[in-house]
Amino acid sequence: MAADAQQTPQQQLDEQLRSFEAALPDVADEPGLYELQVRFLGKNGAVTKLRRLMGKVPPSERKELGKAFNRVKQAMETHLATRAGELAAAARERDLARRVDLTFIPDPPRPGTLHPITQTRRELERVFRRLGFDVADGPHVEAELYSFDKLNILPDHPARDMQDTFFIERPTHLDHADAPALVLRPHTSPVQARTMLQHGAPVRIVAPGTTFRRDDDATHSPMFHQIEGLYVDRNVTMADLKATLYAFVEAFFGRGLGVRFRPSYFPFVEPGAEFDMQCPFCFDGQLSHGCGLCKQSGWIELGGSGMVHPAVFEHCGIDSSVYTGWAFGFGIDRMAMLRHGIPHLRHNFEGDLRVLEQFTSP
Ligand code: DAH
Repeated sequence: MAADAQQTPQQQLDEQLRSFEAALPDVADEPGLYELQVRFLGKNGAVTKLRRLMGKVPPSERKELGKAFNRVKQAMETHLATRAGELAAAARERDLARRVDLTFIPDPPRPGTLHPITQTRRELERVFRRLGFDVADGPHVEAELYSFDKLNILPDHPARDMQDTFFIERPTHLDHADAPALVLRPHTSPVQARTMLQHGAPVRIVAPGTTFRRDDDATHSPMFHQIEGLYVDRNVTMADLKATLYAFVEAFFGRGLGVRFRPSYFPFVEPGAEFDMQCPFCFDGQLSHGCGLCKQSGWIELGGSGMVHPAVFEHCGIDSSVYTGWAFGFGIDRMAMLRHGIPHLRHNFEGDLRVLEQFTSP
């Protein structure tokens, strides 16, 4: 209602109170109530504006006007509080009246699946456990001591670059002499050193896990996975190594795929050998004829292996005149791809559910 110039400020206040009271029953919820409060009592509210008239009335009328103002304001506030209570009670009534079917399942829950690499790691563990191996573990942030020195990779050895290692800066708050030099482990081989130092000989373990190198292209990822194997006892020979790896390939890939060694060099083994298996993709039951996957060679490189170097035994407290042993280190990611038919390495690490959901957990 437009303010009538003839009305006294008190009358205008009462007018506002009436229109407030008229609007109140239509307020249906809390935001509505708040809106009403702002409209009348807010900074630019109708009542607040009228209060500004105080300065304009003669001093003799000011007291009366102040009283009228307080009366109207208080009346409105009481109304607001009462209405708020009513609204809350009504909301509660509605809540209580609502029936909820607690047995109703809107969408069947989607069980997650294990990542294909996790599945592969677990399958590998199963296979090697059946062959009599324990499963060992080691830290991802690893001492240089275990990553290199204990493995006969000397400080100036080119293998340290060969690994393309992520070196970790020493924490500045530690005394440099006491702070161990750390790396993101570039291979799972440090678990060999840890296991021998902790358990001595004989020992038979595999150590699958995450590894890191400064490699990033279509066929390399800076984070990847390996599985390390170590078998130390009296009279262990390279023949045991080949037999074990053959049994592993048979158990993991099936189908009588052939395996082979190629002489190679790794500082922690002597002799050392690369280990290959026939490509399962172009294998006809006897020969692998070559395909894109094996770069037409018919062979897939699984990794390195060999007889544990006597120097490694000495570094790890094992008497090399009594014990011999072998070790291997294979990449897991390619095995997962071969096993599950994953065409690109990047699928392994993108976390794309459309890809990952295709691999139901065993
Ligand atoms: N650690 C080696 C690498 O990452 C792989 C390897 C080679 C591991 C020979 C072994 C081994 O245990 O005997 O390149």
